[in-house]
Amino acid sequence: MSVALLGFVGLVVLVVIKLLNSTDIPKINGLVELPGIPIFGNLLQLGSSHANACRVLAARYGPIFQLRLGNRRFVYVNSFDATYLPSIDLETTTNAKDIQAMSKEGMDVDPTLYFQRSSLNMALRVSYGFRLKGAVTDERIREVVDVERELSLLRGIAHCWQDYIPIMRLWPGYRTHAIRLRDRRDSYLGQFFKQLKHRVSAGTDVPSITGNMMKDPEAKLSDGKLYEVKTVSLSMVAAGLDTLPSNINMAIAYLSSAHGQEIQQRAFNELQKVYPDGSGWRECLQAEHCEYLMALVKENLRYWSTFNLSIPRVGIKAIEYKGVTFPADTPFVMNVFAANHDDSRFEKPEAFNPERYLAGAKTGLQHLSYGAGSRACPGDHLANRQLYVILTRLILAFRIHEAADSKMRPVLDPIACSSVTTGMVTQPNPFKVRFVARDEHQLAAWVQDSVQRTAAFDI
Ligand code: HEM
Repeated sequence: MSVALLGFVGLVVLVVIKLLNSTDIPKINGLVELPGIPIFGNLLQLGSSHANACRVLAARYGPIFQLRLGNRRFVYVNSFDATYLPSIDLETTTNAKDIQAMSKEGMDVDPTLYFQRSSLNMALRVSYGFRLKGAVTDERIREVVDVERELSLLRGIAHCWQDYIPIMRLWPGYRTHAIRLRDRRDSYLGQFFKQLKHRVSAGTDVPSITGNMMKDPEAKLSDGKLYEVKTVSLSMVAAGLDTLPSNINMAIAYLSSAHGQEIQQRAFNELQKVYPDGSGWRECLQAEHCEYLMALVKENLRYWSTFNLSIPRVGIKAIEYKGVTFPADTPFVMNVFAANHDDSRFEKPEAFNPERYLAGAKTGLQHLSYGAGSRACPGDHLANRQLYVILTRLILAFRIHEAADSKMRPVLDPIACSSVTTGMVTQPNPFKVRFVARDEHQLAAWVQDSVQRTAAFDI
């Protein structure tokens, strides 16, 4: 056979393979694809136990991947929960262990640091597949928390007057603070990326969003393309880091008050009914069965609002509303706080009252704290799960009392509680409470159980 003929046959074979491998929709860039074979794609690999085969493959390829069934392409979502539930388990347990140690010494405790650390670690786990081990005062943890907090302040619509009064931009060095913060952020994001890259090459990484992108040759991520990694990870790390700890810390603040004692008792009783015999510590991870706890989570979101003024959103086309035409490009700001405290919707909105969610409609928009519409918070599901688990575990494990030092007791007004009222997210004024373990032995057993269960995730 001549060389030319050989070449021709080779070309035909290549074209046939390409045709047999083609799919109804093209490969999705940036998402891991399971390797398949011509004609069948992944059909033979998945076999008759399709769901289970995917579950097993998810441990290797990550919770979300694309595959081919013959000539059709599908994206499989193999339980996002599988990634973050162990992380919620591990982080809430780490906090409980540390808080228990402090409470044994009878000290007033500032809860803020603990929930900043746990939120950061949950975000890192989902984004990069690892956590920052270390005490709440660990330098690296503080650096990320402090920088993200400062940046969130700068983004507050009421915070930077230079955005609205051009002459103020002449102030020398008005940008330097923001630039310095960006450099500090670039530095730790670069380190996270490097650490993950190292794990991926060593084959010791666990599924994560950035890891999945890194493994996909078509995404072509590299140190030089850090920008793409930043956009993915920033949303996850930054968005949940300020909001969730703020909301949970104000929940703890309220629970420490006189009215909070009644709420704790009611919640504890309801939890005992739903999760008997100490099963609540573990069961609350799997399903949200306690109506009262769910109501407490919602009321906590409504009352504190947390994200009081939304990020400004620009309309892409003209909008007609009650006879007024808002032209395209009009920026809108949603006053989440006002909507959550609107007395035409909520009876006595100034009162903290979880009961309102037991009596009222249980479907539809319950509050505006996650925003609304197409730009509403995409992390609401994760945030709700975290809030439910954190509050359940705290109430099962501890009684939360006012601080012995009366000067350190929290301000319980949803606006005055914030140390920077012009920021995007409520920044609770420093405060302390006293945690008293309900049953030291039971708590130690729960902690041990969780530590064993999550050992593989403690990386
Ligand atoms: C108590 C916790 C939280 C609250 C109160 C909250 C609230 C909000 C609000 C009000 C917005 C803006 C919506 C708008 O402008 O219309 C938002 C945006 C966002 N949130 Fe959350 N959030 C929370 C937790 C989280 C978590 C845990 C994550 C991620 C895992 C997250 C990810 C995001 C992202 C990525 C955006 C930007 C969405 C976009 O620009 O389209 N949030 N959040």
